[in-house]
Amino acid sequence: MALWGGRFEKGVDAFTQEFGASLEVDKSMAQQDIRASRAHAKMLAKQGIISEDDQKAIDSGLEKIAGEIEQGTFVWDVNDEDIHMAVESKLTKDIGAPGARLHTGRSRNDQVACDIRLLAKDLARDLLQGNLSLRKVLLELAEKYQGVVLPGYTHLQHAQPVQLSHHLLAYFWMFTRDYTRLASAYDAADANPLGAAALAGTTYPLDRAYTSKLLGFATTIPNSLDAVSDRDYLLDLEYAASVSMMHLSRLCEEIVLWSSTEFGFITLSDSYSTGSSIMPQKKNPDFAELTRGKTGRVYGDLMALLTVMKGLPLTYNKDLQECKEGPLDAAKTLSDCMEIASGMLETMQVNEDTMLEQAKRGFTAATDVADYLAKKGMPFREAHRVVGELVLYCEQHHKGLEDLTPEEFKAASPLFEDDVARDLDPKGIAYARNTYGGTGKDAVAEQLAEAKARYATDEDALPAPASN
Ligand code: ARG
Repeated sequence: MALWGGRFEKGVDAFTQEFGASLEVDKSMAQQDIRASRAHAKMLAKQGIISEDDQKAIDSGLEKIAGEIEQGTFVWDVNDEDIHMAVESKLTKDIGAPGARLHTGRSRNDQVACDIRLLAKDLARDLLQGNLSLRKVLLELAEKYQGVVLPGYTHLQHAQPVQLSHHLLAYFWMFTRDYTRLASAYDAADANPLGAAALAGTTYPLDRAYTSKLLGFATTIPNSLDAVSDRDYLLDLEYAASVSMMHLSRLCEEIVLWSSTEFGFITLSDSYSTGSSIMPQKKNPDFAELTRGKTGRVYGDLMALLTVMKGLPLTYNKDLQECKEGPLDAAKTLSDCMEIASGMLETMQVNEDTMLEQAKRGFTAATDVADYLAKKGMPFREAHRVVGELVLYCEQHHKGLEDLTPEEFKAASPLFEDDVARDLDPKGIAYARNTYGGTGKDAVAEQLAEAKARYATDEDALPAPASN
């Protein structure tokens, strides 16, 4: 008979039991469940609601169960609907009456909300840590590849030469914003629902603030109805994970492109590549593709929970049982993908010569040649037209701008002098763009320093791991 079996004359059949259960997914929050129960019992004893002896028995009983679950020796009973029942019935079996007093002033509704919040905090913290590791790799590469130039693109067409460091730092800043989003999901979860009981609070003189303190929650939720029915913090976590996956997917798309024969900008390490069962020459960027592909499931997790929540009347509804798998899946997927991306970046070979060669192609110097004329007094619009015509001339004669003779330049405009050649070098072009945030030498050095400082601030702000 289930723990709530008193008012029932018969139980559900085996399939119905299985359908209604959440035990499998709940196993991921077993330690959080026990942490919360130990705090609840401690609070009950402090308030004189249960005796000190009962509390001690409960505490050591729960500690023992936590150990068994961790070591895999705990015997799960399929008749337990969820982790709350599994732990409580085992505790009562082990220690008798004190175990049966644990659920005083508590409901599974505030209990599950508490467990998930503790879990969400743990997941968010791990993701923050993974985010820092990935950003560290990007910082190291940006430092290492200062001076290396590749074509910058718009519309995937060669636009202007940029520094590789600058390109990598663009990703650093994307992941920096993800850190902020993940940290705010952590903060959203960081509030204690325990004490809300089923929905309305309880007549027992609970000290909710004390439980919050024991569990390391920053605040206590001020409304019992909201406490048992809110899952916004999971949406926050899934949204943060979705955006971060989108960033990883963009990075991986570039890794796929850059490692192709057409680009040849990078060569992935063998440890992050796979072969083909039929084509002996193949070296495929599977892990970048898989990361790109896994982005879809994380978006799916977010959509699933938004949909579960949208029609729920206050307060607890069994639909809420569906809210756990998504965040667990999203967090594991993001965590794995950040680790894979870090490894791929750390081990890839950068083909600097190919990058430089490509940076010359596609008339990437055109803007600077137009600027050359504008700096000599020609209105920029007119300079734009003159250089546009020069590009057309080059295309018709199968030449690059750097292949033009001084005479050909001068024929396009008398303002051209021999020194125009200086403005055709992709490195010179990139290094000279020193507006704040630009790709120039000084600007990138300054940006790198700013990125390092931001990294240090975020590292300092990493929440401490949960303690029991
Ligand atoms: N297994 C439930 C869940 O995961 C726990 C809360 C059940 N509460 C209830 N009144 N049926 O959401």
